[in-house]
Amino acid sequence: MTGQLEGKTAIVTGAARGLGKEYAIRLAGEGAAVVAGDIRNCDETVDAITSSGGRAVSIALDVTDMESCSRAAETAISSFGSIDILVNNAALYGGLASGRFETLDPEEWNRVLNVNVTGVWNCCKAVIAPMRAAKQGSIVNISSLAALYGLPYSLHYAMSKAAVIGITRSLARELGRDWIRVNSIAPSAVMTEGTDEFFGDKLERAKEVIAGNQSLKRNLEVGDLAGTVIYLASDASKFVTGQTLMVDGGTVYL
Ligand SMILES: NC(=O)c1ccc[n+]([C@@H]2O[C@H](COP(=O)([O-])OP(=O)(O)OC[C@H]3O[C@@H](n4cnc5c(N)ncnc54)[C@H](O)[C@@H]3O)[C@@H](O)[C@H]2O)c1
Repeated sequence: MTGQLEGKTAIVTGAARGLGKEYAIRLAGEGAAVVAGDIRNCDETVDAITSSGGRAVSIALDVTDMESCSRAAETAISSFGSIDILVNNAALYGGLASGRFETLDPEEWNRVLNVNVTGVWNCCKAVIAPMRAAKQGSIVNISSLAALYGLPYSLHYAMSKAAVIGITRSLARELGRDWIRVNSIAPSAVMTEGTDEFFGDKLERAKEVIAGNQSLKRNLEVGDLAGTVIYLASDASKFVTGQTLMVDGGTVYL
């Protein structure tokens, strides 16, 4: 297998299903060895990679638990010898209760903050020593169109994804001296199980409205995003850092 990520190791969080699973498979397809972590079982993701000749291991990972994040980093080093790429994809999204901002449950607000924001911080901390030692690395954070366009009735989610952009920009400035790049991707709604859960019985109407707001008038599919993750993970973007790339069919122009 030859590809743009040959010889590199990637940790992908939230890799059991949806977009994280796709990122893991596509990064492996470019030659990266992948550590697939999730609170759900990632065996299906790993089987898909290894059955096509790629290298991957699965790990039980809770991004809110610093020890769990450190174990994922140790697994990457012991299994594959380096950590070159971190894709911070794990998040609470599907299944979140929405509602007027003043009615949102404070416990759920804190849960979202903990997984979607503190989880990103934890995973960055877990990988930073080997990346610094190697004087290279690419961190790809998954934000959302919700951060830039706004998402009424889901203030907790939009807040968390805006924080991801703040983390991206601040870490890019802090880590440039170590040649570690930090970027984020902001997708519009992608058709995943998470999206089905998020919109529930309003899914079909939401799909119409979302596509209608885009320059490219169809809904985003899972396969549409991996190319941008591969670009940001690879040397093709070696002088790109601190950026947020919209993958939203042309909804917001930065
Ligand atoms: N699907 C979309 O429309 C969309 C749009 C913009 C951004 N995003 C973002 O893309 C990412 C993936 O979205 P998705 O649709 O595949 O969601 P999803 O709900 O299908 O997948 C999220 C994964 O994260 C895992 N996870 C949750 N909490 C975790 C924790 N504490 N530790 C480790 N793993 C945990 C879940 O088990 C799940 O497998 C998320 O960051 C989401 O916010 C999604």
